[in-house]
Amino acid sequence: TLQMTVLGIETSCDETAAAVVRGPAEKQILSNVVRSQIDDHTAFGGVVPEIAARAHIKVLDGIIAEALSRADCGWDDIDAVAATAGPGLIGGVIVGFMTAKAIAMASGKPIIAVNHLEGHALTARLTDDLPFPFLLLLVSGGHSQFLLVRGVGDYERLGTTIDDAIGEAFDKTAKLLGLPYPGGPAVEHMALAGDAGRFKLPRPLLDRPGLDMSFAGLKTALRTQAKKLEPIDDQTIADLCAGFQKAVADVLAARTKAALQLFGERHPDVPPTLVVAGGVAANQEIRTSLQAATAAAQADFIAPPMALCTDNAAMIAWAGIERLVLGPVDDMALPPRPRWPL
Ligand code: KG4
Ligand code: ZN
Repeated sequence: TLQMTVLGIETSCDETAAAVVRGPAEKQILSNVVRSQIDDHTAFGGVVPEIAARAHIKVLDGIIAEALSRADCGWDDIDAVAATAGPGLIGGVIVGFMTAKAIAMASGKPIIAVNHLEGHALTARLTDDLPFPFLLLLVSGGHSQFLLVRGVGDYERLGTTIDDAIGEAFDKTAKLLGLPYPGGPAVEHMALAGDAGRFKLPRPLLDRPGLDMSFAGLKTALRTQAKKLEPIDDQTIADLCAGFQKAVADVLAARTKAALQLFGERHPDVPPTLVVAGGVAANQEIRTSLQAATAAAQADFIAPPMALCTDNAAMIAWAGIERLVLGPVDDMALPPRPRWPL
């Protein structure tokens, strides 16, 4: 049976992460260390790329050492090094990928340049025994897309946001209502006390066919409503948060139904599964509405544990294993890439 141990490194946004994963015969996360930089960025209301890159440099060596030690591994136990080579904030990507190259060169082990989105896309195969093909909804601060995952390296983007990512829309909404960063958890918390029906907010693009989404108009409509009522009280903030969250959940549910229908047309003989990934998947109302939409379409619903849904290095190590199993991997000449569509 095929079994290997891979060190994964992730530095494409504001998490510095390293992990050791074994597989594919017997899947095991030996360690999964994540250091969030949120505290370094809160004062600025969002991630500052230059600060992020410097913070990665400062802590990455220690995070890698910790991942190895928690896994009880020495360098000799590692078969390959996998690192995010894009897409993402280029300063951070350079730090992680160059560190991985240095380790690979010094130790003579193969390097695997992992696409961050591929990491998210394959995570459900680490946590569940999920065969290809399946449908992935990736909803984070940087991405909002439906992906048809047909195999390792075989992805088709079925639909995406034409403007803001959903997490980004949550963050901007929070900012304009005076709530802290990151906005998602703050908006969700306020929404608990809110009346989603008080304000009429749009469901952008839903009148159009296809799987694309748009969230900028929703945010603008919310700003207009908020301006009219200035200075706004806590109840109004709560009602706006609830209305916003409900609108996002409605859009996602409708698009999920359409995506599952498309999946059924493409793969009539495959029982459909929707996998969600990304920080926005932490949102309870969104989860519930996705669950309802998948149940209505008689599809399975998989939400990996939150620690593996948000940015982490276990998913990068696992993607490395999936690639390694298929044969030769990457060489040292591969550049880090700020943009890298799947
Ligand atoms: O996947 P993630 O940790 O990092 C990347 O963006 O790659 O996602 C972070 C995003 C942020 O925009 C944050 O506001 C959002 O996910 N988020 C949420 C919730 N928790 C985090 N959005 C809505 N509801 C939440 N509970
Ligand atoms: Zn991500």
